[in-house]
This record gives sequence, structure tokens and C-alpha cells, in this order.
Amino acid sequence: MARQAKTRGTASGAMSARGENGIPAARLLIVYHSQTGHTRTMARAVLRGARRVPEVETRMKMALYAGLDDLLQARGLLLGTPENFGYMSGALKNFLDRTYYPAQGKISGLPYAVFISAGNDGSGALRSIERIACGYPLKPVCEPIIARGELDEAMLQRCEELGETMASGVAWGIF
Ligand SMILES: Cc1cc2nc3c(=O)[nH]c(=O)nc-3n(C[C@H](O)[C@H](O)[C@H](O)COP(=O)(O)O)c2cc1C
Repeated sequence: MARQAKTRGTASGAMSARGENGIPAARLLIVYHSQTGHTRTMARAVLRGARRVPEVETRMKMALYAGLDDLLQARGLLLGTPENFGYMSGALKNFLDRTYYPAQGKISGLPYAVFISAGNDGSGALRSIERIACGYPLKPVCEPIIARGELDEAMLQRCEELGETMASGVAWGIF
């Protein structure tokens, strides 16, 4: 079961940027949840964009399988969620709940950005994340993306740009 969880949780990673000791110079973490696939498609586009920046190792994990270690190693964070009942998904909330206390004082001001898939709104999901991010605290560094309804090429391109922008910011330390 643990093995299955590991396989399912870690969708992919880019292992290109290594420092002198083989330790990645900079890491970007994408944490997302998706029930019917829209947010996953967005997350994959974000990952594609981030991978254009070879100086950064980008990891992508499903929220239920992401944990404190992932967070502590990250220099930037991307959170992806569907809007569910006017809020972020329970799975993403669970990730934030689990990591909140143990991360206190260790990730203060971590740069973050959000991407959301919604049927026709998305504002409640965004508000819920922004409110919690204030308390962590995380620092918003890019405009959030809200996709309403079906995804199109233009939206996926925006997601790629978000990933590339976040990775560039992490690589050059501009956040
Ligand atoms: C339980 C549930 C609650 C939802 N609540 C909302 C909502 O409050 N506002 C909204 O715009 N869409 C809502 N939706 C629609 C989803 O946000 C939308 O289908 C989204 O694309 C799903 O993303 P996913 O494919 O990554 O799971 C809801 C869907 C489900 C299943």
C-alpha cells in the first residue's frame, strides 16, 4: 500500500539541476488534487512549463500524498485544485492542515501561486487558499489562474507560462 501510494503520489519530476553534492540547487513543488481530470491536465501543463527551466527541479505530487518533507525542500509552491462547494478540494485542504503546524517558522514567505478548475466560478476556492496562505504565511507571486468549464489550448498555455514563470523566479531568486 505504501508503495502504491508513493507511485500514485509522485506524478513526475525533472531531475536536471544539481549542485556540488548532487543536491538539487532549487526545487519547485506542484501540489494538486483532481477528481475528474481537469486540474490534473492543468497541473501537467504547469509542469511542462516549469521544465523549460533546467536550473530547477520540479516535483509534482497529488495533495493526499504530499507532505512536510516536500514542502521543506521547495523554494516555490504551486497549488492546484478544483472548486468544490465554493471551497478548495478537501484533499488540498488536508495537505495544508497536515503541514501547517510542523511547517511553522520553516517556510515563512515561501513564494506560491494557484491554479483552479471550476464549473462556473472558482472564486471561493481562491479565497479559501488565499486566506490560509496568509496564515502560513506564503507569499503570492503570480496571478492566480481560474479555468471555468472545459479547458482549451489558450488556458493550457497560460498554465505552462505560470509554471515557467514560477520556475524562473525560483531559479534566479527574484521572488
Ligand atoms: C462535489 C463538487 C462540487 C463542486 N462545486 C463547485 C463549485 O462550488 N463551483 C464551481 O464553479 N464548480 C463546482 N464544481 C465543478 C468542478 O469544480 C469542476 O467540474 C472542475 O472542473 C473539476 O475539476 P477536476 O476535473 O480536476 O476534478 C463542483 C464539482 C463537484 C464534483
